[in-house]
Amino acid sequence: MPENPVAPLRLGRLDLADNLIQAPLAGYSSFPFRLLAWRFGRPGLLATEMISANALRQGLASQERYLRRTPAEGPIMYQIWGSEPEAAGFAAAVVTERGAAAVDLNCGCPVRKVRAAGAGSRLMEDIPRLARLVGAMRKNTSLPLSIKIRLGPSGDNFNAAEAARAAEAEGADWLTVHGRHARESYASPCRLGEIRRVVEAVGIPVIGNGDVRDGAGAREMFEKAGVAGIMLGRACLGAPWIFARVRAECSGESWAPPAPAEVADILLRHHDLLAELLDPERAIRQIRKLGSFYSRSLAGAREFRNRLNFCRSRDELAGLAANFFHGSPVPDGRPVSGARPRESEPANV
Ligand SMILES: Cc1cc2nc3c(=O)[nH]c(=O)nc-3n(C[C@H](O)[C@H](O)[C@H](O)COP(=O)(O)O)c2cc1C
Repeated sequence: MPENPVAPLRLGRLDLADNLIQAPLAGYSSFPFRLLAWRFGRPGLLATEMISANALRQGLASQERYLRRTPAEGPIMYQIWGSEPEAAGFAAAVVTERGAAAVDLNCGCPVRKVRAAGAGSRLMEDIPRLARLVGAMRKNTSLPLSIKIRLGPSGDNFNAAEAARAAEAEGADWLTVHGRHARESYASPCRLGEIRRVVEAVGIPVIGNGDVRDGAGAREMFEKAGVAGIMLGRACLGAPWIFARVRAECSGESWAPPAPAEVADILLRHHDLLAELLDPERAIRQIRKLGSFYSRSLAGAREFRNRLNFCRSRDELAGLAANFFHGSPVPDGRPVSGARPRESEPANV
């Protein structure tokens, strides 16, 4: 492993400034989230929430908010979910037209409704279908194309290497492996040795994913899994600066977390961007969830969360944030109980 494993990365014809990537996060990684991650963390690549290929094919206006991006963001990977090759091909063409820098197929989502549609982690039980989907997407976009998989459908069947080889044969340029099988919860540790087996099975770059939230975790994954880059998911919630932290910690540079007063400003900015994307009520609802993450490392976070649950307007939010963050001790980015995200049902299923 090089002394500093965080380095530029080429994925297909896409040159990334570095190999730390923001994970797709349904319910969160719309443009406000990505814009803040870009502004404060500069990941090599941003990612949308998962977008339904079927809904795109049906031309549903409700999908606009998942497609929306702003010129101020960095390169964005659009993630598609579905089980019909024709719809996936169509969706790949749509997101290409809408300014994606890369396109990804979700092959890891364990949510029941997604699996019931034959999609997400269900595809790991049907590798020929997974391959047809990748092939159809390949025909419809010249952008860098990837799949995001888990280690396998269950603990009895770690077939990620087979899925990876099938995707490579169909023209995928890279892939991401979340180091758990589809039935495993976040309570089980991510298996770095199993990710390495996928790295050794293919010639394309493999991005590792699972449980990384600081420089030490990133170094361990680079070293033990031998991956070309790392995707961070839950660690980005309420911490758009996480990439800067991991980058600095990997290179031995000093890094200071934002002061609580700045976190309060970022939280309000997040709200204001959400209000541009959603109606005011939904923006407040989403910021109630996000507020828990922004506050999670601070003393008194539980009470702040309780109050936030009753917050109904931007003014109330500003008042709460001013009271809570100003004068709080400096955050260290560590989670506290009560603010743990689960892979919840995406709104667009
Ligand atoms: C709230 C939430 C939403 C998620 N949405 C998606 C999604 O839309 N697409 C996807 O491929 N994975 C999704 N995931 C999985 C993450 O991208 C990632 O693989 C997983 O959280 C493990 O990485 P982490 O330990 O860095 O969080 C989601 C996870 C969470 C917690």
